[in-house]
Amino acid sequence: MGGGWTTRTGFILAAIGAAIGLGNIWRFPYMVYENGGGAFLVPYFLALFLIGIPMMMLELGVGGKTGATTPLAIKKTVRESEFLGWWAAINGFIVLTYYIVILGWALSYLGYSFTLAWGREPNLFFGQFLGSYYPLIAMLIVWAINFIIVRAGVEDGLEKTNKFFVPALWIIVIMMVVGSLTLEGASSGLRWYLKPDFSSLLDPNIWMNACGQVFFSLSLAFGTMITYASYQPKNSDVAKNASIIALANCGFSLLAGFAIFSTLGHMSFVSGMPITDLIEEGTALAFITFPAVLNILPFSIIFSILFFILLIFAGLSSSVSLLETTAGPIIEKFNMSREKTVLILTLVGCLMSLPFALSAGNIGFVDEIVSTYGLPLIGFAEVMIFGWVYGANKLRSYINEVSDFKIGRWWTWMIKIVIPVVLGYGILGNILKQPGLVIVLVIILAAILASINSRFS
Ligand code: ALA
Repeated sequence: MGGGWTTRTGFILAAIGAAIGLGNIWRFPYMVYENGGGAFLVPYFLALFLIGIPMMMLELGVGGKTGATTPLAIKKTVRESEFLGWWAAINGFIVLTYYIVILGWALSYLGYSFTLAWGREPNLFFGQFLGSYYPLIAMLIVWAINFIIVRAGVEDGLEKTNKFFVPALWIIVIMMVVGSLTLEGASSGLRWYLKPDFSSLLDPNIWMNACGQVFFSLSLAFGTMITYASYQPKNSDVAKNASIIALANCGFSLLAGFAIFSTLGHMSFVSGMPITDLIEEGTALAFITFPAVLNILPFSIIFSILFFILLIFAGLSSSVSLLETTAGPIIEKFNMSREKTVLILTLVGCLMSLPFALSAGNIGFVDEIVSTYGLPLIGFAEVMIFGWVYGANKLRSYINEVSDFKIGRWWTWMIKIVIPVVLGYGILGNILKQPGLVIVLVIILAAILASINSRFS
């Protein structure tokens, strides 16, 4: 299967690399932006601690205990639920197909940074760029890079590249934060970013967005963490590793937010426009608003290069994890060679990326379906299956056997009650607006009930 991680640090770095990605630099700021600034941070942090960390423990526990990639790990624990693992992997692969297109934009913009080619009208420039063949070419290049890394295997491909990407990411983001905090107007951007608004807790939509963001950002419900954890030696730690990975990812998001919102504060200061009017469409933040801000910064070329390198390193360390999440189970289940599997997935992926490379408008819509709705739905099915069918306490005993620190009964309650209730609230609230979700929910519930039934009958 291409071997496993050679060291604990190798695994932790790869898992942090999987977690830190476009989600922290492209998606997190626009989620914050679209959900009213500080109003989003309250449900986001609650979702991180209530859902993110316990589920990270669950996924690392399942992967470590079974030593199998996601669908087979689930099959080994709850035989009838293998479908959930494939659903997660396919959902992750769909994310990958547009993720790589955005990475291609970042790669192109890295090239443009040397001359600040977007000029005075980044909006117009981005439109022209999207209408050209460059996104297509860049997409193919990014697929090729992913192919090379994942084909090289866990040790030689994923571990080696992450040992470089992850430390580099922290160095760059810290440089950017330090630089951006010195800008005039930075404090007004930060005030808007950090000012809490507790009334947002009642809005199911914000909850859904916060949960979707936590899942996306921590790479939960993609199957990535189960598969990555399965490449560790037997009896590897769960609780401490899970906490390190989740907190590192969240710290990175916060830092990236500091850099982005203090820079937006500066732009608002220079242009005299309120922050809420600076961005027309959230997804465009990184490619329209930011280039506009970069124009007016001191040392703008250096800032631009750093920003797009940050996006590329973060994105690549995640995109390879998503490709591995799909390739690993196919290699394991069908006994196919890594070379052949990765090649086929790359070719299929290139085809699936085409509609996004040719028309960026498709991305927001698909992202909403597979990330904002898909991930919490898969997460909901996961906690029901592992919490109720397999038994959260059984998994907790395993986690406590192998971990550096023990987790208490609180974890069982989180998995069995709190997470399903919080996710259920978000999902139900959205169903009222999107009746189509009812069908998906009914299918999941039927599958879960069938699992429970066949287990106890
Ligand atoms: N966790 C990855 C990200 O945040 C998918 O981009």
